[in-house]
Amino acid sequence: MLTAGMFAFAAMHAVDAMRRSMLTARGVLACMALLACTAGQAGEVEVLHYWTSGGEAKSLAELKSMMTNRGHSWKDFTVTGGGGQNAMVVLKQRVLGGTAPAAALIKGPSIQEWANLNVLTNLDAMAAFEKWDNLLPKVIADQMKHKGHYVAVPVNVHRVNWLWANSAVLNKAGVTALPTTYDAFFAAADKIKAAGFIPIAHGGQDWQDFTVFESVVLGVGGAAFYNSALVQLDKRALTSDTMRQSLDVFRRLKSYVDDKAPGRDWNVATDMVIKGKAGFQFMGDWAKGEFLAAGQQPGVDFSCSAAPGTANAYTFNVDSFAMFQLKAWEAQKAQGYLAYLLMGQDFQEKFNLRKGSIPARLHMDMDKFDACAKASSKDFVAASKADTLVPSVAHGMAVSTAAQAALRAAVSEFWNNGKTTVDDAMAKLVLAAGYAAPGHRQGDQVDKQR
Ligand code: BGC
Repeated sequence: MLTAGMFAFAAMHAVDAMRRSMLTARGVLACMALLACTAGQAGEVEVLHYWTSGGEAKSLAELKSMMTNRGHSWKDFTVTGGGGQNAMVVLKQRVLGGTAPAAALIKGPSIQEWANLNVLTNLDAMAAFEKWDNLLPKVIADQMKHKGHYVAVPVNVHRVNWLWANSAVLNKAGVTALPTTYDAFFAAADKIKAAGFIPIAHGGQDWQDFTVFESVVLGVGGAAFYNSALVQLDKRALTSDTMRQSLDVFRRLKSYVDDKAPGRDWNVATDMVIKGKAGFQFMGDWAKGEFLAAGQQPGVDFSCSAAPGTANAYTFNVDSFAMFQLKAWEAQKAQGYLAYLLMGQDFQEKFNLRKGSIPARLHMDMDKFDACAKASSKDFVAASKADTLVPSVAHGMAVSTAAQAALRAAVSEFWNNGKTTVDDAMAKLVLAAGYAAPGHRQGDQVDKQR
């Protein structure tokens, strides 16, 4: 949510920001030819991110070494906390304090929220030179633009509606097929429990609860229902029988989670699957980065399959970096080079091979990618054609930051408090939907419906 302070800040700095935006665009232009980005004219980039798990750190190391190979220096601005909520709070403090980093991992509608404050760099010159419009799926390019101008660079597409499984655990429990329905899932979970393992590895943090919840809504209700309920925040959908069924399934999943889950980090939960303590985890494919970092192979040690009922749909989550306006010329050039690098084929391949995601850039050779990534790439295209490609709400791709926080709180409360009834939960979801910001696309639809 944008605070009144941030609006005041924006107004105060609007004129200065315009001037700096132009300066920064010069830095971006200088780096397009790459001649000005040589070691002799190196600068520093400070980058805000929350990629601290094993797989995430390995992926980011690719970027750091590409920057330093070019002579620039990299300064980590790391804020721990999966899903990035902590990072966004700290970023606000830094920008309001007048010391914005060069770049920050910002996604979805919050890119628009930041751009509205006039603090982001216009990347149009580089985007035009490098033909980003031709290199990106429209659904992604649109999110990177503010009022038609590029202000952020996408590095990947994460699929969120995955179910990860430890092959040995499933084998020992006598689960012979990956579940494609919730009936099959609960039957498999019972077998895993009976064999002495934890059926579902889960980290009890609100964003992880919502990650599971949105996969359940998609599996139970399908893509059109998901869009009405969680993206358009339609009151009828939020209080429908389908939502009731989704909440029932979601609550039933909780009974297969161990009691040490509260507060557990997502990668610690993934590690339970890696180490064969648990059978399944519902998580986006950054989890694959952990399996790979632990030396495991898909199809051998672990499997990836669409969460039950979601094989024909795809919940997307795009990591992107927004560039903040900087004053120093050297810093602008280093920032320009970073933007150029992020969209490059070399970086998008190396990074995504480790991160678990697929390149955001189209027409990339997928030969070096594993079966999970190839499936993700194929399913992204198929879902896009079938209109079953949906934005992840848990990962900030759909609704305003404020609406997202309110929805997350309602879902987590239901997950954690066994006394909250399904009716109470639906009423809280409707209340949460009221936080959709006016002026935001989904918020507008909600306002019209009311
Ligand atoms: C981000 C991923 C990150 C994950 C865990 C997601 O919201 O998109 O890049 O690995 O959270 O922090």
